[in-house]
Amino acid sequence: MEPVTIVLFGATGDLAKRKIYPALYHLFLDGKLPQPFSLIGLGRREWTDESFRTNVETSLRPFLRQAPGETEALRGFLGAFRYCVLDIGREEHYRNLSDLIERREAELRMPPNRLFYLSVGPEYFEPIALNIRESGLGSANGWKRLVVEKPFGKDLNSARELNRTLSQVFTENEIFRIDHYLGKPVVQRLGSVMQGNPAIRELWANRGIANVQITANESIGLEGRAGYYDQAGAVRDMFQNHMLQLLMMAAIHIPDHGAPDSIRLRKIAVAEALEPVRKENAGAHVIRAQYAEGTIGGEPVPGYRNEPGISPDSMTDTFIAARVRIDNDDWRGVPFYIRTGKRTREKSTRIVVEFKDAGPRSLTGDERLAPNLLVIEIGPKESVSLRRVAKGTESFGAFEPIPIDPQPDSPRAPEAYETLMYDALRGDATYFAHWEEVERSWQWVQPILDAFAERTVPLLTYPAGSYGPSESDGLLAEDGFHWWLDDHHERNNDNSEGERYAYHAND
Ligand code: BG6
Repeated sequence: MEPVTIVLFGATGDLAKRKIYPALYHLFLDGKLPQPFSLIGLGRREWTDESFRTNVETSLRPFLRQAPGETEALRGFLGAFRYCVLDIGREEHYRNLSDLIERREAELRMPPNRLFYLSVGPEYFEPIALNIRESGLGSANGWKRLVVEKPFGKDLNSARELNRTLSQVFTENEIFRIDHYLGKPVVQRLGSVMQGNPAIRELWANRGIANVQITANESIGLEGRAGYYDQAGAVRDMFQNHMLQLLMMAAIHIPDHGAPDSIRLRKIAVAEALEPVRKENAGAHVIRAQYAEGTIGGEPVPGYRNEPGISPDSMTDTFIAARVRIDNDDWRGVPFYIRTGKRTREKSTRIVVEFKDAGPRSLTGDERLAPNLLVIEIGPKESVSLRRVAKGTESFGAFEPIPIDPQPDSPRAPEAYETLMYDALRGDATYFAHWEEVERSWQWVQPILDAFAERTVPLLTYPAGSYGPSESDGLLAEDGFHWWLDDHHERNNDNSEGERYAYHAND
């Protein structure tokens, strides 16, 4: 890996503290940072190098392992950190920045490789990029890369506009659009799960799939982000990016497809094949809802409109469920159902692949075999298992898991940000969103946003602590399916029988 200067915009912010510094520190401990490396933190606050390092150290404290040599390691890591005051709109500040970067490069005898990390609000992406160009920061004789956080635009037009501006300064190969769901370990292992298990490969390749269900539910609410969230809603915050990325990742792993195109090319092909939804009939494919008051884990929770910072007549969605069809030879006729919500019963991100029922046709009613499910738990638990119907009289109708993706016991699995940061430093953009994926996702979502704006899709409500509005079940029921969900809370409160899938899941 070549030596690099990380130029971090938003170095005093929350994301840097919670995600970026710990990720870098773990890479450092594992010997995965380039040597030498230099980090220049930027912010408006009048910090010094010293106060910057103290702040970074504070955010790292919870991660320190108290191992021998830790203090020295930390000192070595922080030694690479410098701070520069920067007001994003002030040109002269970029000159100071440029001087500092060059001085450090000379001290460390580094080539001018620069990775610009924008950990700032989206309104700053364009001015920063343009100032990087004006100040010549990125035109030295090394490589340059731009890492940019979500949201990438707030609709199709603004995303295109943003991309146009960034493209004046960086080529597509130099832009690394973060979608942290692509950094999640199980998401990155999807390919090996599909290809590495003959039984699954067979079912997968032979049109044995009835439908695919992708859920990202969260019990948390706004976490102090009311201002941002009320503008975004679930559709922009989760659906357009994380959920459609999960769909693409699930849909590309078709075995025996000849030439192994790159993951990104295959994802783009899936994105291109998304069957458009027209504004006029968006309501037939999309359910939108907002949480009302309820109870989570025994605690009362206020409704969305009573949350601090939210207006009592807010029309923002906190839950979206949608049926998405992919019009290509692999997936025609296999619906994907996607849902994501805040303040649902529990945190659970998972993909469930329902296989077509292979049981004997002679069985009827309760005796009928439930279909096999491939359950891919992405978070907070991580596991991949095939579920088959249990045979005991007690548990008939529930599923037993057969684990199929045993992972070696590792003391510490890397976090999404760590993997992604490592890839960006190496210049590997596989698990970053390509512009064409982003543009196609917005294209799919735009008519839905229009329908929401015109209020032709009703905003439903669901009690906090539920699985969302019952109408989201209707979306699947129309096609003869239902959501498969982990119902141990309903069946046995102490979860003593472990995790189970209900036969008649949502009813
Ligand atoms: C973020 C959203 O991108 O993802 C948050 O802005 C959400 O609203 C978060 O809570 C969920 O991420 P994870 O990794 O906890 O599933």
